[in-house]
Amino acid sequence: MGSDISTEQQDRELARMGKALVIHFFVLLKTAQNYKEGHAALNAPLANVLNAIREIHKRNEEASITVKRGYLLIGEVRLKPDSAGLEAFNFVMGEMKRYLIGGLCFLPAVDAEEVQKFVYIFNEIEPIPSPQTHVKFLERMQQRQVFNIELETLGEDDDEYDEFDENELTDKKARSRKIYSQTISAVSEVMDNAKLGQTLRLRKSKRVVQGLIDQLLAAETNLIGLTTIRCHDEYTYNHSVNVCILSLAIGQRIGLSKQKLCELGMSALFHDIGKSEIPLAILNKSTEFSREEWEIMQQHPLLGVKKLMKLKGLDALSARIISGAFEHHLYCDFSGYPRLPYKRLSLFGRIISIADCYDGVTSSRVYSRIPHAPDKALRFMMSRAGKIYDPILMKLFINCIGIYPIGTLLLLDSQELCVVMENNTDPEKWNQPRVKIIADATGKEVSGETVDLADPKSGRTVQETLDPNQYQINVSNYFA
Ligand SMILES: [Fe+2]
Ligand SMILES: [Fe+2]
Repeated sequence: MGSDISTEQQDRELARMGKALVIHFFVLLKTAQNYKEGHAALNAPLANVLNAIREIHKRNEEASITVKRGYLLIGEVRLKPDSAGLEAFNFVMGEMKRYLIGGLCFLPAVDAEEVQKFVYIFNEIEPIPSPQTHVKFLERMQQRQVFNIELETLGEDDDEYDEFDENELTDKKARSRKIYSQTISAVSEVMDNAKLGQTLRLRKSKRVVQGLIDQLLAAETNLIGLTTIRCHDEYTYNHSVNVCILSLAIGQRIGLSKQKLCELGMSALFHDIGKSEIPLAILNKSTEFSREEWEIMQQHPLLGVKKLMKLKGLDALSARIISGAFEHHLYCDFSGYPRLPYKRLSLFGRIISIADCYDGVTSSRVYSRIPHAPDKALRFMMSRAGKIYDPILMKLFINCIGIYPIGTLLLLDSQELCVVMENNTDPEKWNQPRVKIIADATGKEVSGETVDLADPKSGRTVQETLDPNQYQINVSNYFA
């Protein structure tokens, strides 16, 4: 995986292979309408479909056809039919829609027999316009033991980030919230599949990570604000998304390309995937771990690597995702775990371990620690820079989340309480963020104004940072 230019070439190549798959699949469906199952006339069309699938898998891509807003996509690439392919495109899309199939994915283990059974299901099920049609189709696949073709329901992806109705979601905050919850759902889907030992499908995750990157590049700082959400039931999902956002924020600061950012985001999103193998009783334990429990817990980076190795084919992208999962507890001086002779941490490993620690230390559910206020967490981490954390990346991290990170609870000299909403972009004014007043000088809760402390008219300065837990304030409320 090189520059963005090579991505373009790869997309073109994938589009060419996708087009071939659609056309061969069309011929196969048509042939199946005219001949009985098992007829020799099916041999050539079946072989062509299979070849097309194999060719895509050889390039470590997913052999999936998706219907989206009147287009067909192969993987993430939109297919543009030429006049020769138009009939095939419309027919395949029409058939998929009739059975409410939004996407179909041929897994690497699929064979000619399964593909044959699959196309005959189109003849066996009456396509009445009801959600039941799709259910019947799935049941029939089960009965006929078609296990290596996966279906997505049409409309399932309707709320994907790229489907946003811009009029409805013009609000920056609403967009950030939406993309955050979509990322949670994508990561939970993958983690649940990982728990069940199923093949990991990362298509959706890749899409949401790209959405996060677009938001970050559009300088919508609300996304970082959302990482203050601490009270989600599933700590690991929340943590994964937060580590992803914070890692991307660092990656953006060091000027990584969009493609590298996507790889970093994926690596960060799945850095703790090995936790899907750790018993919940240990994972959710609210008291100190015993030595045995610690030992089990410390297996999660290696367990994660094993999970990620099962990704369809190993390409450069998966290799980099894996390094993030493997290295995030190793530390720069290798005093962490797993204890293995290791020479050098990868850039992704160094970035993710900073984001991971920051989110872990400031949240309440990791390793039964008491959460630290963001500025205390940063001071604690800064004291370990050079040994545990890469000192330059650490400085960059502070630079991008600010010395009073978004979500910090502050006491002003006016004796008002406020929450940091946005950092000042002017480095000279690092200690003068934009804040929202949440309690007046008498301590009475107010839904107060947003004040720019850098504005001389505000007449207020920061006196000290406070621990939101001590005041029983859930700062994420001000962002969600
Ligand atoms: Fe971890
Ligand atoms: Fe983690």
